[in-house]
Amino acid sequence: MTEKELEAALSAFPRRQLCGFATPVQRLYRLEEEQKTGPVFIKRDDLNGVGPGGNKVRPLEYLLGEALDRGCDVVIASGQENSNLCSIAASACCRLGVSCILVHNNPKPEHLAGNMLLNHLSGVEEHYIGSIPEQERDRYVEELADRLRREGRKPYVVENGATSVHGAIGYFHLPLELVREKTEVPIRDLFVPGGNGGLAAGVVFGTALLGGPFHVHVITVENTKKTLEAILDKLFQGLKEYTGLVPDVPVDSVMTIHEAYRGEGWGIPTKESEEMIRRLAQREGIFLERIYTAKTAWGMCDLLSRGLARREGACLVHSGGFASLFYQYT
Ligand SMILES: Cc1ncc(COP(=O)(O)O)c(C=O)c1O
Repeated sequence: MTEKELEAALSAFPRRQLCGFATPVQRLYRLEEEQKTGPVFIKRDDLNGVGPGGNKVRPLEYLLGEALDRGCDVVIASGQENSNLCSIAASACCRLGVSCILVHNNPKPEHLAGNMLLNHLSGVEEHYIGSIPEQERDRYVEELADRLRREGRKPYVVENGATSVHGAIGYFHLPLELVREKTEVPIRDLFVPGGNGGLAAGVVFGTALLGGPFHVHVITVENTKKTLEAILDKLFQGLKEYTGLVPDVPVDSVMTIHEAYRGEGWGIPTKESEEMIRRLAQREGIFLERIYTAKTAWGMCDLLSRGLARREGACLVHSGGFASLFYQYT
């Protein structure tokens, strides 16, 4: 489908714009020089205009659009104390003038580091419910939502860290912006992190809808390749059903999942990902964080140097997480 057709299809879904511009694309000259490659770019999705910026702003445009269209007056988001989603949700709610409650499965912190400080400054209501498993946190959220309903409020619960079919369509805009980008050479390979899979599903499906202008390398940072594949398949199926859109090319033909950069799993840095944080800070003045973006950047550099990605027109998608950096090093 054409860009215009995709834009028209997206306009059918409720949305509240939080960003309002195409996120910048910059060239990484010093990294290119070091890697001895052609032009390498970075899509600064971390600079997307609300709170600390980054991943979940695009999904929240659609999730909060849905919430407000349904007349909801309070949004509940949950996660660990340093969750990027929670901070972005808090800032987005502030921007849209809707109440927000954050639920963290941690004890109340003595020192406010990283995202916790931003949440505090945003003035949203925060519930620290102790170190309990995620399932118990979800039960707490359900009970909280029920209590609010009984009090006459209309809560909207952001589920599964904002990874859902309804949220993932927000990421269709990323390939749409990139096909319109005027770069010295065309962008051909995208490198994105794969956590819960919402970001990757949206970017891959959107790319396939546009006929496959890019190949998307998904660097899994959390699950095995097999598990992430299954998660993505489910999201792709859901996206087809929810949007009624069928990609021009098969989703599998525009995507490769790479497991080699995950190390021992979510939140456990590797020697190379640690080095990557310093490399990008010292060569390009750009900060990555430990869990998602450092492993993705390392994946891109390694695939480029091993000739497993095209040496011209690579583009790293910077999915943010800046504030969490200050927590990750305390
Ligand atoms: C900064 C950052 N990048 C990437 C991701 C991965 O996104 P997803 O869970 O949609 O795969 C997350 C998830 O929270 C994140 O916080």
